Amino acid sequence: MSSLKSNEQEALDRSRLVREVLGHFATGVAVITATSTDGEPVGMSVNSFTSVSLEPPLVLFCAGRQSGTWKSIQASGQFCANILDITQQDLAGRFASRTADRFAGVEYKQGVTGSPVLAGASAFVDCRIVSELDGGDHVIVVGEVLDHGMSHDPTPLVFYRSRYSAVSGEGISTAAITQARLYVQQKVAELPSAATPIERLGTAVCAFVISLLAMSKEIRHALRNLWYARVDVRDELIAEEHAFFILWDELLAEVLTFGELRDRLPLDIARQLCMGTLGWVVNWWTPEYCTPEELASMAREFVLHGLISNLQQHGTAGDSLIGPV
Ligand SMILES: Cc1cc2nc3c(=O)[nH]c(=O)nc-3n(C[C@H](O)[C@H](O)[C@H](O)COP(=O)(O)O)c2cc1C
Repeated sequence: MSSLKSNEQEALDRSRLVREVLGHFATGVAVITATSTDGEPVGMSVNSFTSVSLEPPLVLFCAGRQSGTWKSIQASGQFCANILDITQQDLAGRFASRTADRFAGVEYKQGVTGSPVLAGASAFVDCRIVSELDGGDHVIVVGEVLDHGMSHDPTPLVFYRSRYSAVSGEGISTAAITQARLYVQQKVAELPSAATPIERLGTAVCAFVISLLAMSKEIRHALRNLWYARVDVRDELIAEEHAFFILWDELLAEVLTFGELRDRLPLDIARQLCMGTLGWVVNWWTPEYCTPEELASMAREFVLHGLISNLQQHGTAGDSLIGPV
């Protein structure tokens, strides 16, 4: 009995691991819909949807053998694959849930096969089932595309490592700000505990420049265009940007507490001057000018002299503070 249990446990652990490994393959999410033989709309979320052939146009998805929804789709002989947009994350959850009526409040029209075509989907393909192949605990369902459509300005919903995300300028910007913030935090944390607020600020400036220069031009471009991000996907981006601002405000507040920030320079303006300068200098930099480390060092000198009164008092023209990066 106990060895049987441990075999079961082993099998369970193995399939969990396989699921985790395969989760590294980023996919979209589609809702496969159909009208059941008794006239009810049915639908299930899948991330196994993919294209198979262009001539003839074929697609496939894999349906769990135990799925009741799949049995209804199978009986109807047709399906519509609705490819979800980032704004439809709720639908991905709903069409995998035990909700009694998955279609309650969902807007749709009937496609050529009679299957529901969901409003707001990035694209759809309306199909008839042409084959069902053995796929272990799933059935590989192949459909011939009879009709299709797409929206004009979609942002795809992405499923990656069991989480939803966006492949978009917004997603990239958020990841880039997180990366820059963590790098700056790490470099400041590595300083000896005796480091002065000015040294901490100087280190943050260098780390920010270096982290921006390590990013591709495309990512820096996405960062610059932050404010053009779509309103519905901007929350995470704004939260991350806010966290980064807080880090700078703390560093500047330390300098202010020590009475070293220039008079009549409000904290948020100081932060904007600092981040604005660094963002643009990185934008204009090319390797012909100097090395990234030299640029970081010059940026630190510029920012410290700009924001701090009497920098000379802290060393000969601040030189002791502006050592190698
Ligand atoms: C993002 C996501 C992807 C999924 N992919 C699949 C899939 O490819 N194949 C599948 O059979 N079930 C998949 N599921 C689970 C089904 O949606 C779920 O088992 C089904 O809707 C259950 O409905 P039923 O109880 O009527 O069978 C996925 C669920 C989610 C949230």
